[in-house]
Amino acid sequence: MTQMPVNDHLIRLSNINKSYPHSDESLSILNNVSMTINKGESCALLGASGSGKSTLLNILGLLDCADSGEYCLAGQNIFSATPDELAAIRNRHIGFIFQSFNLMPRLSALDNVALPLRYRNTPRNQAQQRALHMLAQVGLEQRARHRPADLSGGQRQRVAIARALIGEPSLILADEPTGNLDRRTADEIMELLLSLNRTRNVTLIVVTHDPAIASRLDRQVRVDNGVLQEICPCPR
Ligand SMILES: Nc1ncnc2c1ncn2[C@@H]1O[C@H](COP(=O)(O)OP(=O)(O)OP(=O)(O)O)[C@@H](O)[C@H]1O
Ligand SMILES: [Mg+2]
Repeated sequence: MTQMPVNDHLIRLSNINKSYPHSDESLSILNNVSMTINKGESCALLGASGSGKSTLLNILGLLDCADSGEYCLAGQNIFSATPDELAAIRNRHIGFIFQSFNLMPRLSALDNVALPLRYRNTPRNQAQQRALHMLAQVGLEQRARHRPADLSGGQRQRVAIARALIGEPSLILADEPTGNLDRRTADEIMELLLSLNRTRNVTLIVVTHDPAIASRLDRQVRVDNGVLQEICPCPR
């Protein structure tokens, strides 16, 4: 795998193209997209439904592959990485948060949070201790033994945030993390994500339809007709 020069860029995308087959033709979703994101930055991805926000986030999170272009993440060239290397980069660098939480229903909050460490073969006791510490950080120490069904929506998303952070990733990718939450809970969850971004210097990319949420992040980028448009920050 090619090592790139060290700089402050956590993410460097150059001329990324992505299309999906549709009937007999191909439907272009991302069109020569280029973007850099620095370590520790927070960035909102906005855009109409179907504009390609999740497609872009999935490419950034190595859940999907672009058709062409270059992607360099944490100094590593993603296009020349083998599947094993990609899995290792994903596990080491990326935490994902979804709108519908995606927790394992049969596992307790504690075991859900510990899961990424178990995938790394961390011994159970050690993984659970760290998971408990992480749950405390998101204010849920008292709910460690609850299963997802016995938690509120906001609490479930806190568990998902703890799970995303337990592996100490350099990048958190959140796809409409507050989409299923009421206004007040949504504000609390965003406050938590932003404080983790500031205190841990973890880079944060959030897909949102909500301009008020977007305005709280360092940068706002709109996905429109396959291209990215940086929106000038409005005065806060
Ligand atoms: N696996 C797929 N196969 C074919 N087309 C797809 C696939 N995934 C996404 N698309 C198409 O790509 C386009 C972008 O989808 P995407 O999910 O990235 O949009 P989005 O901006 O996240 O929308 P929303 O705000 O509704 O979540 C859509 O037109 C969608 O139909
Ligand atoms: Mg989407």
